[in-house]
Amino acid sequence: MKQFSIVIAGGGSTYTPGIVMMLLDNLDRFPIRTLKLYDNDADRQAVLGEALEITLKEKAPEIEYIYTTDPKEAFTDVDFCFAHIRTGKYRMRELDEKIPLKYGVVGQETCGPGGIAYGMRSIKDMIELIDLMEEYAPDCWMLNYSNPAAIVAEACRVLRPHSKVLNICDMPVGTLRRMSQIIDKTPEELDVRYFGLNHFGWWTSIKDKDGTEYLPQIREYVKENGYLTQVEVDTQHMDQSWQETHKKAKDLLAVDPRFLPNTYLKYYFYPDYVVEHSNPNYTRANEVMDGREKEVFSTAKVIIDKGTSEGSEFSIGSHATFIVDLARAIAYNTHERMVMIVENNGAIANFDDDAMVEVPCMVGTDGPEPLCQGKIPEFQRALMYQQVTVEKLVVQAYMEGSYQKLWQALTLSKTVPSAKVAKEILDDLIEANREFWPELK
Ligand code: NAD
Ligand code: G6P
Ligand code: MN
Repeated sequence: MKQFSIVIAGGGSTYTPGIVMMLLDNLDRFPIRTLKLYDNDADRQAVLGEALEITLKEKAPEIEYIYTTDPKEAFTDVDFCFAHIRTGKYRMRELDEKIPLKYGVVGQETCGPGGIAYGMRSIKDMIELIDLMEEYAPDCWMLNYSNPAAIVAEACRVLRPHSKVLNICDMPVGTLRRMSQIIDKTPEELDVRYFGLNHFGWWTSIKDKDGTEYLPQIREYVKENGYLTQVEVDTQHMDQSWQETHKKAKDLLAVDPRFLPNTYLKYYFYPDYVVEHSNPNYTRANEVMDGREKEVFSTAKVIIDKGTSEGSEFSIGSHATFIVDLARAIAYNTHERMVMIVENNGAIANFDDDAMVEVPCMVGTDGPEPLCQGKIPEFQRALMYQQVTVEKLVVQAYMEGSYQKLWQALTLSKTVPSAKVAKEILDDLIEANREFWPELK
């Protein structure tokens, strides 16, 4: 069996240990010869880097391991780059969330003005990362989680159309895990039909391998409980605020009971509710800094202090299943079916060819082959057209340095009530993002 070489870009990410633990757990089905961490923040990465060095020495000493801030060292001789960078880190996520809230508008990592601001920061770093990968490892695949995935994917489509970059999201996988719990199955037993954009989609079918359709049964449950399940099915989205999001899916379903909604639609269907239930002084970024970030980094420090991972191991991240399965699908041409972000080109029959959509694909050595989802109803189509245009305008605004286009993007976002509010938020975001955004004229 071939052994693979992997670089994790964003080595200092809170998700890095969970992915590494998942890789270690899967060595029999996905053997690794080299593992590298790469980050542009040496100090942040060193904490996780050192703790993982101790962990790897104990669990898989045969794997060659380094952590580095040198792109050449990081990208030379690698087969896969798992990317999850966050340009501006949590300090900027916090501002993305708090600035719109000052104006009574949804403050969210990937949706509305916050997502647009994050998109404007991410594009440059993502393109640079792709170029580094191609310079040092021309055959490497980048499996990219870095957000906002919709805007990053559109930027890749326009700026690096031939690059081997696959943009993915763990939400369809995570929610399918909850659905499988509702019907007492496992995700592996189920095939879905799904259409939409990233963080903006619907399931139209959930079938087992015999072809039995479970959507009506799941719908009855979601009508009452949303995707909130009794059993702990997910270690990633268990915080109270996430539980409320899973539950809120029942109100999303009510808007169109034909399909099962992605939880992210709550920011577009119920922005007033979201704002009322947000604390403008303590947002999700604060929860994450006080929660996941503290937990992961303090575990790392314990491992380093003790010089061993025994008794204080990192846990396997459920978030990591998708990326490992995806790497396997490419490595072994498995043709596994996975929901991915790809250029539409007819997958959604009555939607623009050049839109980056999220649909099920067969994945093999040549990457994803989208499965046709047919025509979609006008309600979803109109919503998606509005949202995908926001995403396209952001990428154009970035490329042209256009204030006008970014203002239009914010004005068009369903989360923003008027051009006036859009302008006020934009002017604040420009101030906050001086270090990161191109100059807008
Ligand atoms: P984090 O801030 O803990 O980690 C991000 C790391 O990236 C930091 O260590 C930072 O120093 C590093 N970084 C920033 N710019 C870089 C660059 N240009 N080159 C190399 N490294 C760089 O953030 P996190 O909460 O762990 O999330 C990481 C990323 O994964 C975010 O973009 C997040 O939105 C994304 N994410 C996506 C999904 C999805 O469904 N697509 C799921 C979970 C997380
Ligand atoms: C889901 C989404 C990701 C997003 C994450 C935020 O997994 O699919 O795109 O980054 O949630 O989670 P957090 O715990 O950081 O708020
Ligand atoms: Mn996502």
